[in-house]
Amino acid sequence: MSRERLTWAEIDLSAIRHNVRVIRQLARKNVEIMAVVKADAYGHGSVPVAKAVVEAGADRLGVASLSEAIELREAGVYFPIQILGCSLPEQAVEIIHYNLAQTVSNEEIVYALSKAAVKEKKIARIHVKVDIGMGRVGVAADKLGEFVTKISAYEAVRVEGIMTHLPCADEPFDEFTPSQIKRFAQLISDTRIRSLGARYHAANSAGIVRYPASHFDLVRPGLMIYGATTVPDCPVQKLLKPALSLRSQIVQIREMREGDPVSYGSTHRLPKDTLVAVVPIGYADGFSRALSNKAWVLVNGKRAPVIGRVCMDQCLIDVGEVDNVHLGDIVTLIGTDNGESIRVEDVAAAAGTIPHEILCTIGKRVERVYRN
Ligand SMILES: Cc1ncc(COP(=O)(O)O)c(C=O)c1O
Repeated sequence: MSRERLTWAEIDLSAIRHNVRVIRQLARKNVEIMAVVKADAYGHGSVPVAKAVVEAGADRLGVASLSEAIELREAGVYFPIQILGCSLPEQAVEIIHYNLAQTVSNEEIVYALSKAAVKEKKIARIHVKVDIGMGRVGVAADKLGEFVTKISAYEAVRVEGIMTHLPCADEPFDEFTPSQIKRFAQLISDTRIRSLGARYHAANSAGIVRYPASHFDLVRPGLMIYGATTVPDCPVQKLLKPALSLRSQIVQIREMREGDPVSYGSTHRLPKDTLVAVVPIGYADGFSRALSNKAWVLVNGKRAPVIGRVCMDQCLIDVGEVDNVHLGDIVTLIGTDNGESIRVEDVAAAAGTIPHEILCTIGKRVERVYRN
């Protein structure tokens, strides 16, 4: 594993393959897996991750946009890919050219896809999104039948899927998600919809773990692929292997005195004489400023607190309690060091956000190194 930079993310592709196999075991029988690799595979690198999930038996890939799909195609990924986000009619020609399935919720895009498919003598594969509580993208539930009837008449269009999204699957249990799943099941039992013989899908990672009734024909795991979860006290967490470790190296160590201020805004004053180390990672690398005075890191297998404000390119840690600290020592911000671990879920909790955001905001400057 060679690298050039002082701050890097190690991506363990065998962990990714393992997590896909865990999902395969959790999913109901004959359910397909669409591995969600949008946002550069949640910061892990979409091309290597796409290849790993395909090797592990995923059936499809999900991306957010046409450009993400083209990146995969141009890297030689010829597997079924669905664009989960909205596309505009002017993108239809490329969507057809690159053999992509498109999520749709308006007629304009279906019309454009149909026209492009006829011209290229291909089939436009579409997944109709229905909104039953997300309050974002989708056809209104009571308009689904009418919409499907209309678009089915377009030439060279195949409705390959009917899908929805679960906004509250990782919130405390209540009636909302079960009633949403029930509503979706009702909608797809309509003969107009059933007769399409499409794939019906709803479940993200939290849906997979907590609501087997949401698995339908296909599940769409994102976060679980990367070995994390947003479900509190989730027993599945123990089965998953975190795929990403975020590491850096100490570039300065200095003795500082009780009462000395640390970093911008002097938000931390040292409670006693100690050793303070500088780590070359900051919010421009995705180590959020919200982690100022909140996060912990590992040095030589011991926990050390982040003190003072996280800067754009650096942060400071108190290494007074760590034995034998040296310049160049490895700092683990996410991952395991000598049996101690910091999970992305811990970092997200410290920053007051979700693991998705921590992972997909890891910056471009952070070198990705791959382990197979
Ligand atoms: C439509 C859709 N399906 C599935 C997912 C995967 O979600 P998660 O990462 O929580 O599994 C996402 C992610 O935002 C999504 O937008």
